[in-house]
Amino acid sequence: MKNILVTCAFPYANGPIHIGHILEHIQADIWVRYQRLLGNNVYFICADDSHGTSIIIKANELNLSPKIMINNILDEHKLQFKKFNILHDFYYTTHNKINYFYCLLLLNNLNIKNLLYKKNVYQFYDLNKNIFLPDRFLKGQCPNCKNCNQYGDLCENCNQIYNSCDLINPISLLSNTTPILKKTDHLFIKINKYKKILFNWILVSSFQNEIKNQLLFWLDNNLIDWNISRDYPYFGFKIPNKYILNKWFYVWFDAILGYISVFKKYCYLNNYFNFYDFWKIDSDYEIYHFIGKDVLYFHGLLWPIMLDVLNFRKPTNIIIHGHIKINGFKMSKSKNNFISIDKWLNYFDSDSLRYYFASKLSYKINDINLCINDFIKSINCNFVSNFINIPSRIYPFINKYYNNNLSNELLDCNFYNFFISKYDLINSYFLNFNYYKVILEINKLISLINKYINDYKPWIICKNIKKKYELHKFCTTVINVFAIVSIYLSPIIPDIFNKIQKFLNIKLYWRKIKIPILNHKINKYKKLYKRIDKNFINKFYNGDIYV
Ligand code: MSP
Ligand code: ZN
Repeated sequence: MKNILVTCAFPYANGPIHIGHILEHIQADIWVRYQRLLGNNVYFICADDSHGTSIIIKANELNLSPKIMINNILDEHKLQFKKFNILHDFYYTTHNKINYFYCLLLLNNLNIKNLLYKKNVYQFYDLNKNIFLPDRFLKGQCPNCKNCNQYGDLCENCNQIYNSCDLINPISLLSNTTPILKKTDHLFIKINKYKKILFNWILVSSFQNEIKNQLLFWLDNNLIDWNISRDYPYFGFKIPNKYILNKWFYVWFDAILGYISVFKKYCYLNNYFNFYDFWKIDSDYEIYHFIGKDVLYFHGLLWPIMLDVLNFRKPTNIIIHGHIKINGFKMSKSKNNFISIDKWLNYFDSDSLRYYFASKLSYKINDINLCINDFIKSINCNFVSNFINIPSRIYPFINKYYNNNLSNELLDCNFYNFFISKYDLINSYFLNFNYYKVILEINKLISLINKYINDYKPWIICKNIKKKYELHKFCTTVINVFAIVSIYLSPIIPDIFNKIQKFLNIKLYWRKIKIPILNHKINKYKKLYKRIDKNFINKFYNGDIYV
């Protein structure tokens, strides 16, 4: 049995959980469920990222104190994830004492190892708002490729990392004015000393190849010392004055340490069970971070340095996904195509989106397009007509002739065994995060079931009194292969899987998939899932679904 810690990137506590966040949590949740089905011991933790300028700005907008706002948002986020059946064992906040403890510990270690220095540097300052501008509140031209409309930290066009004050023609997103350059002291970590350690780590890692190449590119071209301090006004943890006067820890410094501190809090609440077993340097327990490609630099280069300085182990793997697009466009509030989870759930359910995203998720980092027509087609045709409706095609016979009982043997063991024979393949797809391949394989199996029914023609066979026993075995075979496919899909569609178990009147186990269900009474059939009403398409295009 393996021990596995799984995390998702911590969503900022400045707005609702949206479709982009949920993609990541669905990707991780499917994997967590799958690992648990194998019998592994999995801890799935996450938290709100509750610090930084964006938090104060939002709190000001809402006329609330940051503390009250982050608490409200924490409650909302927990509920939003629950509605999507995301099985976090613990969901907390980075605004906690253990997290501050680790910030101080890391700072102290950096200092002892002579990896810290103070420097007087220029930063963009918004004269209208009287505030030093954080990277994500600045836009301008990339100093490298000159592409417009880039943030102050990284160019989405050429992937170059730069200092925000190198941005050409900068604009403050807070006031839409041109900021000035102003000098101020900041605290930096010497990153370059870690080049060799990082290089070795990347080479032996199990990262996707494109990720390895990206990290190696940054290592060669972009390894700049990391500024970990921020000016007031800021909401977060204060850096002790002995290091630097009146500065706060940059939100990313404490956010990423949250992977340690939030897990520690969880262990503390559960009697400290195995915190160090996970994080000690020679641990053989496994740690997986699920993240989006925009936060790769922090997780792939800065995080391993922080862990090294703390003398903690590095993650087993980091699973990176691309970004969500809505009908081909980047999702954003300004483009008015921002879909929050609550809004989604007003129209659809969680399993349909879990199924759709699974059909797109692979171990690649390409963007994922949520195309509404394609979504509806995929649910109504593939999922409902071809899969969910299978029991309704044979239930009338089971009900009418056999009083809902299954027979004591199968009609066609070869057919049944073919479904079982896909077990190892499906396992490998889940294990390697290639969920789209699971769906492709399942679609093939589903067509086989429908063909099996079409070829046998139970509606004709039932008229032949001599074939009653054979028909019984046929129906039992269909129910059994339907059950196998349902088990294969169970990490993806938990709500529907529960309904299927209720209908079949049995608990279906991944590891007992090879045992057929025979001599067993099933329940009365009720529609397992409804097709999506075409009217919803109009609602999407009317914009009702957004925000
Ligand atoms: N707070 C940081 C993460 C700190 S991790 C210690 C952050 N927050 S976020 O709310 O902006 O994003 C959280 C996660 O959601 C990130 O992995 C990010 O890539 C992912 N997504 C946010 N918007 C997304 C899309 N539109 N599409 C797919 N995933 C995206 O970054
Ligand atoms: Zn660029």
